[in-house]
Amino acid sequence: MKELILVSNRLPVTVEMRKESIQFVKSVGGLATGLSSLYQKYNSVWIGWCGVPAERLDHQEKEEIEKTLLKDHSSYSTFLSRNDVKMYYQGFCNKTIWPLFHYFTECAVYDQGMWESYIHVNKLFSHTIMKIAKPGDIIWIHDYHLMLLPKMIRKKIPDVTIGFFLHIPFPSFEVFRLLPWGKETLEGLLGADLIGFHTFDYVRHFLSSVRRILGYDQTLGQTSVDARTVKIDAFPMGIDFEKFHSASRLPETIKEIKSIRNRIKDRKVILSVDRLDYTKGILHRLEAFDYFLKKYPEYKSKVTLILVAVPSRTGVETYIHLKRRVDEVVGAINGRYGAIDWTPILYFYRSFPFHALSAFYHVADVALVTPLRDGMNLIAKEYIAAKSGSHGAIVLSETAGAACELNGAIIVNPNDREEVAEAIHNALTMPEREQRERIHGMQLRLKRYDVVSWANDFMERLKDIKNLQVNLMGKKITGPTQQRIQDEYIKSNARLIFLDYDGTLVPFAPTPDGARPDRDVLQILRALSQDPCNEIVLISGRERKTLEKWFGKLNIGLIAEHGVWLKPISKDWSTIGPLRQDWKEKIRHLLEHYVDRTPGSLLEEKDYSLVWHYRQTDHDLAQIRVQELKDAFIQMAENLNLEIMDGNKVLEIKSAGINKGVAALRWIRHRPWDFILAIGDDITDENIFSVLPDAAFSIKVGLQPSLAKFFLESFREVRLLLKKLYKNQKEA
Ligand code: UDP
Ligand code: G6P
Repeated sequence: MKELILVSNRLPVTVEMRKESIQFVKSVGGLATGLSSLYQKYNSVWIGWCGVPAERLDHQEKEEIEKTLLKDHSSYSTFLSRNDVKMYYQGFCNKTIWPLFHYFTECAVYDQGMWESYIHVNKLFSHTIMKIAKPGDIIWIHDYHLMLLPKMIRKKIPDVTIGFFLHIPFPSFEVFRLLPWGKETLEGLLGADLIGFHTFDYVRHFLSSVRRILGYDQTLGQTSVDARTVKIDAFPMGIDFEKFHSASRLPETIKEIKSIRNRIKDRKVILSVDRLDYTKGILHRLEAFDYFLKKYPEYKSKVTLILVAVPSRTGVETYIHLKRRVDEVVGAINGRYGAIDWTPILYFYRSFPFHALSAFYHVADVALVTPLRDGMNLIAKEYIAAKSGSHGAIVLSETAGAACELNGAIIVNPNDREEVAEAIHNALTMPEREQRERIHGMQLRLKRYDVVSWANDFMERLKDIKNLQVNLMGKKITGPTQQRIQDEYIKSNARLIFLDYDGTLVPFAPTPDGARPDRDVLQILRALSQDPCNEIVLISGRERKTLEKWFGKLNIGLIAEHGVWLKPISKDWSTIGPLRQDWKEKIRHLLEHYVDRTPGSLLEEKDYSLVWHYRQTDHDLAQIRVQELKDAFIQMAENLNLEIMDGNKVLEIKSAGINKGVAALRWIRHRPWDFILAIGDDITDENIFSVLPDAAFSIKVGLQPSLAKFFLESFREVRLLLKKLYKNQKEA
């Protein structure tokens, strides 16, 4: 049966070696808690690390761990050595990626040894997966520890279905570029079919890094890697809403609520729960609480801050230092404001089980969730969900992913001590009715898009992208189609072959002049044109002068300026009809203005058109300028009978109604043909494909939706196909 294989560094349980026995304890953190409630609902197994260095385990212990994990948790463990833990987990994951992706650039360590260990452990995971995966299984990889894994698995099983979800922020390009291994990391991730992030901002950042570092173009959140379409999208992770919403009715939770109430009495409760992590802004939060007590002394003895700091990554120095500082600051605040019968901060350095945590959520008047950066922050969502029958307010950082969804929260900048203190005050004084209304609004969203809907949504999109790949790949020219084209070619004796030039026969160059024909392409055109049965037509957007200079000596037809100029074999150039040029002066000024305003762009003048090239312009700037230029053109070009045409990183202004399709049709009608082939990569080539007779072969270069019947990946494949045609003919 088809299975879902979840893969993450952390398993839902972590092994702890106690003197007398092996313990399996619930793992901390949003990934483990979030996915735990999910994976039982799917037919899934989980692959991850059990949490203990392999050297600490003898053979028998290892077997026992494997057995229990499989039996009780449907999980398989990878076994990491002490060195892996140090260099991969504590090292590259938690000293490089974690700080960098959370914008703590000054804390990020760049160490070749750690990077190599990261590669090594990703490989270990891929070996474990290969032992378990069956054909047809879906592999869903999670989080920053395993960003190289998608590509590794793809290499071994090319058509496997892989999803990847990042649970932490993806930083802006300016931050990501600091990573010396950024290219490899992006390539690793792009081995997946679908890459998910919590928010659209992270999607944007990722796409921008892919474009700037790898140079891959994208449309609608899709890019293509080796002719495989990869989708990138936002899926804000949900929680098990009902579990938290109904928790306060459970006897165990009721008991906990009573015990907290006994301790707190009728004081207002502010709740802070996180792993003890520097990204969570715990010290900033304490400062804000301190400031709040100073500014609003009337709250002394009336409010208690419950501060839960869950031990995390205790082997990493930054976390050890942070623990020390939190201890000190909590001590200082309690010492400064505390009284015999009041401790301002109840501080717990431990994790709490579900019922205790739910009781905290239930009694808290205010949740103070002020991370400096957080991919999502599930605590905020759980707090809102847990409010059934009780009221409460939430103060939430704008830098937490959850802020995009929780629009009833009081949003703050976590670095702004005064603002946070003010927000605490607002939350404490917010009328109960307003609190309930806000909570109700947020609950509607959390209920609808809970963790199961989140996973279903991801799975559905994964299926969609797989289907799209299959459809597109169905058009790829493989052996049998190639054979069909060759057979038809050999059988025929009046052949018309339209070939676009840039992007079809040669790769794009930064400037138009750079893409001169090389010896290989000239040889192909020569060989094809020597066959008297062939009429080869180069159909290009280029100027007639350039085509003449580069190809004038060959025995081929030429179409220049997207159909403006035609040169039949052994004849002279003529325009397709009477054309005007008097509009150029006016429009040239407009385009020159855009060249001045847009670094990297340039103006090309052809006989009957003006072209604005922006291949070397920053992508985001170009997007804006293209739109502006189109708007300006519309206003200026009234009654001039012109049109603006989108090409590959160019905008071309030319007489309306003339395009490659019109020119191609004229050629086709010239005499009967028994074999027609057209190959092109650009949107302007769609006009040719649209006028071809049914029996013609049309080929799009590049994996994009097209009117063409088939596609090839690149100019290299085009050349191979053309060579096969004339070589086969000779042999036949
Ligand atoms: N959590 C818990 N016990 C605790 C504190 C936290 O089980 O004492 C869980 C909590 O329910 C939540 C997760 O830890 O699901 C924290 O996830 P979050 O996304 O807020 O932060 P992360 O730790 O992933 O950075
Ligand atoms: C965050 C990460 C998770 C990680 C968790 C706990 O939520 O996104 O991948 O599991 O922190 O950290 P740990 O290092 O203990 O796994």
